[in-house]
Parts: sequence; C-alpha cells; structure tokens
Amino acid sequence: MVGQRFIQLLDDHPFFDLSLLFSSERKSGNQFREMVDWQLEGTCPDRISRMMLNDFDPELLKEHDIDVVFSALPGSLLRDMEKEAALDGGKVFSNSASHRYDRDVPIMIPEVNGEHLGLISSQDTFPAGFIVTNPNCSTSGLVMSLAPISQFGIKKVYISTYQALSGAGYPGPSSLSMLGNIVPFIRKEEEKISIESGKILGKISGNKVEEASIKIIPSCARVPVKDGHLLSINVELEKEITPQEAKDTFSSLRSLPGLPSAPAHPIVVLDEEDRPQPLKDVSTGSSVKGMSVSIGRIRTDGNVLSYFALVNNTIRGGAGNAILTAEMAHEMNFIGGGRG
Ligand SMILES: NC(=O)c1ccc[n+]([C@@H]2O[C@H](COP(=O)([O-])OP(=O)(O)OC[C@H]3O[C@@H](n4cnc5c(N)ncnc54)[C@H](OP(=O)(O)O)[C@@H]3O)[C@@H](O)[C@H]2O)c1
Repeated sequence: MVGQRFIQLLDDHPFFDLSLLFSSERKSGNQFREMVDWQLEGTCPDRISRMMLNDFDPELLKEHDIDVVFSALPGSLLRDMEKEAALDGGKVFSNSASHRYDRDVPIMIPEVNGEHLGLISSQDTFPAGFIVTNPNCSTSGLVMSLAPISQFGIKKVYISTYQALSGAGYPGPSSLSMLGNIVPFIRKEEEKISIESGKILGKISGNKVEEASIKIIPSCARVPVKDGHLLSINVELEKEITPQEAKDTFSSLRSLPGLPSAPAHPIVVLDEEDRPQPLKDVSTGSSVKGMSVSIGRIRTDGNVLSYFALVNNTIRGGAGNAILTAEMAHEMNFIGGGRG
C-alpha cells in the first residue's frame, strides 16, 4: 500500500524523479502493470506502469546514479536491504520499523522534530548514505496532536485507536474476518506508539535523542474501514486548559513553507459535533491531500483534554511524511552529495 502511495505522490515531483523500482523476487523481471494490482484512487501513472520491477541489488543504485531511496518494506525481512542501500551511499527514507529504534536514526515528523534530522550526521556506519525513518502510522497522528499542546505539560496520555484495513498492507486481513467486526489487537502496535512518541517528542542531546518522559497508555483495534486511522485521545496535563485554548493551540502547529508536500495547516480543527470521520476527512490537506491531521470533539475537564484525531495512514502516516522529510533533507543539503 505504501509503495503505491510513493509512486502516486512522486509522479511529477519537483525534487525527485522516480527512476528505479524494486520488488520481491516473485514479481521482479516483469513490468509493474503486469504484476501489481493498483489499489489507490485513479490509475497508476502510465510511465511507471511500464517500468520493470527489479530484485533488490545496491549495485543498481550506483549504475543508475540514484541518491534517494524510499522504502516500504515489511519489517520482518531477514535481509537488511535498507542498511545495504545506505552502505552504498543511498539516502534511505524508510517506513519500516527495522531501524526506528537505532540510537542515531531519527524518527521524523518534519513539522514536529525537524532538528532531529541532524542526527544523520553521526551515522558513522555509512560513509555517504544514511537512514531516516517515519513513525508508525497511528503514532504520526498522535504525536502531531501532542506536539503543540506539550506547552501545557503532558503527564499521561490514554489513546484508543480505530485503525483502517489499509494499515495492515495489501491484501491485509480477509473480508470474512473483518466485515461487521472489530479486532481489538494489532501486533506490536501499542508498544510502537509508546516508544516512538517518546523519541519524537524528545530533545537532541549530543548525538542522541533524550526521550520525553510521557506515560502513554494505548489500546489498538482494527476496524472495517478502508483508509484513515481514527484516534480517541485523553491527555492529562499539568495545567488547566479550555476548549478554545486547545483549539487555538492545535491550530498553531506551524507549516513548512517552501516544501512541496507541506500542508498550509498541518492540523485542521473541525467544529462539527460528529467529525472527524474517515470517509469525510481522510483527504484533508492542501498541496497533498491527506497530509493534514483532522481534530474534533474537543472537550476539557480541568486539566484533562479529550479529542478525536484522524490521520491518513498511507499518506501522513506513510509515504507523504517520508517524502516531506526527504524534501526537508534536500533543502538542508543532506541530499545531492554528502551528509551535510
Ligand atoms: N500500510 C500503512 O498504512 C503503513 C503506514 C506506515 C508504515 N507502514 C509500514 O510500511 C511497510 C510497508 O507496508 P505496506 O502496508 O505497504 O505493506 P504491503 O502492502 O504488504 O507491501 C509490502 C511491499 O514490500 C514488498 N516486498 C516484500 N518482500 C520484498 C523483498 N524481499 N524485496 C523487495 N520488496 C519486497 C512487497 O512486494 P511484492 O508485492 O512483490 O510482494 C510489497 O510491495 C511496513 O513496514 C509497514 O509496517 C505501513
């Protein structure tokens, strides 16, 4: 799913030109259109649909003079292809969990922790390349909403998720196990939310991140929705907050003007009493639709703030966020030569 989003979002991109595709061994050696069942709205760009799928070989990166590698690999593979690509000079922007917890690898949400990108300068394992990661998809929505309100002092966060089927990859769980059903378990998801949020909201200290000490208590469920993870979030703050203060604070998360995939408003607050909804709000965002997190149902009780947030799991929670990070790296001269 994320691989197809990359293809869709990189079509006609002003900084990056998609020139090589890797796939699993069973599909390689064939044209993309012969082997891949396009799952996204619209059609696959014609030029891409004719491209060949290749077995992963880092030598091909050199042969094609490729600098940037976008990865949407399962985290369970035995072969560490992202590391191989970075060792060969590739600037790797990854969606998999394989390197998220490495000390010198940042987990990026550009509007939230842009300064963490500098960590790649200390990735001594790679003479010219580097690895940068995206958070897990529900973590993206949670952390984007927590970042602006951290000024009120976050003590504890209770989060319940309603996660879309596309978050499980294609083909994902069978229709018979999901239609008319909710599954209150997603393997390793709750652990990922707790660990990754602390790292993203942490501060750089030397050449590592000092994690934020926020207690996060997640409960994750898979629901029969195609796209968009809905999150019910209750935050215990150090200070009291009113609904209007919360609304203004969410809306204050600043954009990154000049980066092609940056939405004008990273968070969009909805006033309607029954929003956000996956069907209506999953494509919120200017420039690239699906890059903004929608927030609604804001309520407060003293120092407890409650709200719902919706994140497009394959765009802000996946390919779109990785491309935005790469755009930032491009502007900071981490791409197109050394590591800055
Ligand atoms: N889905 C989301 O919303 C989401 C959001 C954020 C992060 N992620 C993460 O992103 C990664 C991809 O997720 P997904 O949902 O896109 O999964 P997916 O739909 O199952 O796609 C996985 C892709 O990896 C390819 N692949 C498997 N083995 C390979 C190999 N040995 N060499 C090259 N390619 C190989 C597959 O190619 P074939 O088609 O040829 O088998 C497929 O295209 C995972 O780590 C996931 O946790 C997913």
